Amino acid sequence: MHIQTITVVGGGTMGNGIAHVAAMSGFTVNLVDIQQSYLDRARATIEKNLTRMVAKQKITVDDQAKTLERINLTTDLPAAAAASDLIIEAITENFELKQSIFTRADQHAPDHAILASNTSSISITRLAAVTSRPRQVIGMHFFNPVPVMKLVEIVRGYETDQQVYQAVRNLAEQMGKTPVEVQDYPGFVSNRVLMPMINEAIYCVYEGVATPQAVDEVMKLGMAHPMGPLRLADFIGLDVCLAIMNVLYDGFKDPKYRPCPLLVKMVDAGKLGDKTGQGFYTYSK
Ligand SMILES: NC(=O)c1ccc[n+]([C@@H]2O[C@H](COP(=O)([O-])OP(=O)(O)OC[C@H]3O[C@@H](n4cnc5c(N)ncnc54)[C@H](O)[C@@H]3O)[C@@H](O)[C@H]2O)c1
Repeated sequence: MHIQTITVVGGGTMGNGIAHVAAMSGFTVNLVDIQQSYLDRARATIEKNLTRMVAKQKITVDDQAKTLERINLTTDLPAAAAASDLIIEAITENFELKQSIFTRADQHAPDHAILASNTSSISITRLAAVTSRPRQVIGMHFFNPVPVMKLVEIVRGYETDQQVYQAVRNLAEQMGKTPVEVQDYPGFVSNRVLMPMINEAIYCVYEGVATPQAVDEVMKLGMAHPMGPLRLADFIGLDVCLAIMNVLYDGFKDPKYRPCPLLVKMVDAGKLGDKTGQGFYTYSK
């Protein structure tokens, strides 16, 4: 299965990073978003990140120019899908929106094309079921910031074909990433392990066991975590943490995944972390 042209749908935080890495690895990339202004912003971010790589002498000015040349910006999903071997969806984390992208991509993509999602928590099997090619649907879960983070969780849906899995695994390696195989269950591995740890750290604050600073110090100095769990929660966004805990709770129906009431209260209060300037810590904008 030969992959040469990749369409990335969604040019936000993750989509622009995926387009950056794919183009830098020699693939032709169509980057799709709903508005030209979002595409322009994505391109500016990619250009800025490539400039940083040039400054660090990781790539040359020529590599930067060639990478940017390989990225076509478009709002025309059907045309982009029709010219693709692989479509990686990286839009907002909402099943209905993603379902619509999968349905349309399935209608327009050539028969051989693979449809992938970068979702953090939505079932790949459920997305596959809205297409006519569930054997060619797979999860490619990249991590933020994509140009820096090595991991890609490759998520096998219920019907994902072995050849498709192998092709996507090879592709992740060609993109300089380290693929890790996981099955399609709520939270995959990354969020199933990370989010309950963050939730438990929040319980420590909720129950008065320790302050946020103390919890983070323990995990940084005692467990060699580069960032404490509460600082990390602020960075990820407390709304995102709560949404993922709810996915685990609903998916497994196990009380061990119940979101901490303090997390719920902070989200209700609009204290979402870095993006609102206030979470477990205060940030100047
Ligand atoms: N941010 C992270 O740390 C992270 C990490 C791993 C996975 N993810 C997953 O990646 C996906 C994207 O997250 P993000 O943080 O990049 O979001 P984001 O909000 O930064 O970007 C989403 C982009 O999708 C675009 N979009 C929305 N609907 C669209 C449509 N119908 N057609 C085309 N484009 C559309 C938006 O305009 C926006 O540019 C989500 O599924 C998220 O769960 C996020």
